[in-house]
Amino acid sequence: MAIEIDPEWWKKIFDRLYLLTDARSVCDDGITRLEVDIICEMLSLQRGQKILDLCCGHGRHSFELYERGFMNCTLVDYSSFLIDCVHKEASRRNIEMEIIQADARTTGLSPETFDVVIIMGNSLGYMTEIDSDLDILLESFRVLNNGGQILVDVINGSSINDTFNPCAWHEIGDDIVVCREREIVDNRVNAREIVLSKKEGLLRDQTYSIRFYTPGSIKKLLEQAGFSVSTTCTDFSPYRKKADFGCMNDRMIIVGSKM
Ligand SMILES: C[S@@+](CC[C@H](N)C(=O)[O-])C[C@H]1O[C@@H](n2cnc3c(N)ncnc32)[C@H](O)[C@@H]1O
Repeated sequence: MAIEIDPEWWKKIFDRLYLLTDARSVCDDGITRLEVDIICEMLSLQRGQKILDLCCGHGRHSFELYERGFMNCTLVDYSSFLIDCVHKEASRRNIEMEIIQADARTTGLSPETFDVVIIMGNSLGYMTEIDSDLDILLESFRVLNNGGQILVDVINGSSINDTFNPCAWHEIGDDIVVCREREIVDNRVNAREIVLSKKEGLLRDQTYSIRFYTPGSIKKLLEQAGFSVSTTCTDFSPYRKKADFGCMNDRMIIVGSKM
């Protein structure tokens, strides 16, 4: 049976439960460190550069960058819950950061302000509007200084068929079970996620849909936004163990420049 998608899913799913269901990817410090290693390497990051962490989630990359001396990060995310987590973590660490709740297509940030934009953790392809990802990249282009760089980390659609699982489930601790049913429709993975608590019952029954890109199609999109694509790493995986990480297994990292 076709999975019916709620087009507003991306406005709802990034809450407390997401930090549990995706904890294996986004709450593992070892994985974040490996991702930040590749950010630093591919961008040749310099201390003092102004970095925009767009679709920052709960801010894990910016906090790790800060620890490494890259202290000039601005964080933007649509999810009020996750932005609240960033505020709490920044004040727990007693550090000052610019933290903004906004749609990545219209951040309200001043033009030509940043040296680097990072879009990590497969944060593109959520909206059904055809130009939504282009709009995010155009906004990135607008806020970057001339010579600035963008780094995008997304699933590699060219290998998706090799590793695709129509059904997957995993347990979190003693209580939570996450079940995912998936199908590929054109260039999207459509999914239904059911989250159950053995103690409390059903916690979530939500559908979502993520557009995937090939190395060629993401390059084309970045070029359409005005970037010149310099480097593409097509086989990035920060995971130590083999498992189904919700389509996050095979990723590609693309760097473009605003010339
Ligand atoms: C899979 S999470 C990744 C978060 C973070 N980059 C990481 O790697 O931990 C995707 C994030 O993108 C954010 N997001 C998706 N579309 C967005 C948009 N149009 N504007 C702002 N944030 C958006 C979501 O709220 C969510 O926090």
